[in-house]
Amino acid sequence: MRAIAVVNRLRREFACRINDLYEAPVLADFALRLRPQPDHLHRVIATVRSHWWDYQATLPAFDAARDRALAEQQQAYEARNAAYAAFDGTERRDYGEALLTGATGYLGAYLLRELLSDPAGRVTALVRGGDDEAAQARLGRVLAGYFGAAGGATLIGDPRLTVRAGDLRRDGLGLTPTVHGALAEGVRAVFHCAANVNHFGHYAEFHADNVEATRRLLDLAAARRGDPADFHLISTLSVTGKAPEDSFKLVTEYDAVPDTLDENYYVRSKQEAERLVTAARGDLRNASIHRVGNVVFAAEGGPLQLNLRDNAFFRQLAAFVRLGVVPDDSHVWLCHVDRVARAVALLAGAAGLANETHHVENHRRDTLADFVTSAAGMAGAVRAVGFDALLDRLERAIAEPEMDGALAQTLEGFGLYSGRSPQARGRRQELTSERTQALLGRMGFGWPPVPRAGQADMLRAAADLFSR
Ligand SMILES: NC(=O)c1ccc[n+]([C@@H]2O[C@H](COP(=O)([O-])OP(=O)(O)OC[C@H]3O[C@@H](n4cnc5c(N)ncnc54)[C@H](OP(=O)(O)O)[C@@H]3O)[C@@H](O)[C@H]2O)c1
Repeated sequence: MRAIAVVNRLRREFACRINDLYEAPVLADFALRLRPQPDHLHRVIATVRSHWWDYQATLPAFDAARDRALAEQQQAYEARNAAYAAFDGTERRDYGEALLTGATGYLGAYLLRELLSDPAGRVTALVRGGDDEAAQARLGRVLAGYFGAAGGATLIGDPRLTVRAGDLRRDGLGLTPTVHGALAEGVRAVFHCAANVNHFGHYAEFHADNVEATRRLLDLAAARRGDPADFHLISTLSVTGKAPEDSFKLVTEYDAVPDTLDENYYVRSKQEAERLVTAARGDLRNASIHRVGNVVFAAEGGPLQLNLRDNAFFRQLAAFVRLGVVPDDSHVWLCHVDRVARAVALLAGAAGLANETHHVENHRRDTLADFVTSAAGMAGAVRAVGFDALLDRLERAIAEPEMDGALAQTLEGFGLYSGRSPQARGRRQELTSERTQALLGRMGFGWPPVPRAGQADMLRAAADLFSR
């Protein structure tokens, strides 16, 4: 975070990217990458504004071309989805023993609970720690944090749960050969939920945590010759990448990750991990990918994500609360963590589905502005504004040192450092999850409305982030 603050400060007068700092960690090398641009932020905002006006001038023609192109692609998508018409979701797989990574994480903790809710299920959780006991104690603390002392104790004490100290970065997953061998022999499914989800850092770290780790787990799944384990990668909808420059694209579950990998190291490493899983479809009977949207508070209530400050959506919310404005043309798809875990378990356990990519997101679109302004305590504190007014606010914030963090977050989060308004490019790509929603619907799954308590808690926490 300190590195980001440094780069954000430099960006006021120089053109540079956060990745420059990681790619050129020696100060002298980093300095060579800086291109002086006095008054850089005012210029950036002025360029974004003129790009926005140009886009608006072309809007009628843009919308007509967009509607035409997307309608055609939608038709082709629906035709492909017809292959799933007979799926009714009643036939379930019996995995017996599953290996779960990332159980100390937000989604992983809920996925662990979900897997154990199947009375026939047994789970081995691979958790970082000095030894099995330490790993178990740490997982126990996380579970108590999310599910309360009693709920956490029940889960960690469940005799069907085994905790193994391991590290996905290390050969053999950091397990002893005996433990590794026993897992390779016994596990029927791998649920790979662990990831380095930082939004900045050295690429080598993302590669080790997200790509090499996936390769090691795929090897483990393939170890039982002739009878491999199923593999379920928890991925992110961000892998769908940037919108095309001059055409329109409906991104569906059938789309592989783009040929050009993303600049963002987290996203890039998740794209590479997906490629590995797709390539493993020859060796494994079922190598599936679950691309997840913005994970927020649980629909059933409970505490917010313990490492909430690392969550990109939360940081952006916090920035808007700090600035006192929120754009009125952005949408959010809020995916409740407990419902995401349930959806993944349902899709993974459906015997009729193999080698699939799913889009696990709430199909319900809320506007970001409604989400923020309708939360308890937010009325009057944050105003919904058009994009021009948002740019006005950002421009004023340049001269307000106390807005530094919120300003930098918004410039980065909305891709404004590029000098372009996000709408023109963003609207060239439409993401769909219709097929996944239909499959889930046939298994009785639906997304509940936004729970008011979770919304209020999240915005209260957001109000705190940039005010320190
Ligand atoms: N949160 C979201 O909004 C969101 C959205 C889309 C997709 N996803 C995906 O959902 C998954 C879970 O995300 P999350 O937000 O729940 O993450 P999180 O809370 O940050 O948890 C990450 C988990 O990965 C583990 N991990 C990381 N590196 C590891 C390593 N080398 N060895 C062993 N364990 C390691 C962490 O273990 P430690 O406790 O030891 O650090 C932790 O359990 C990720 O695959 C992510 O890409 C999340």
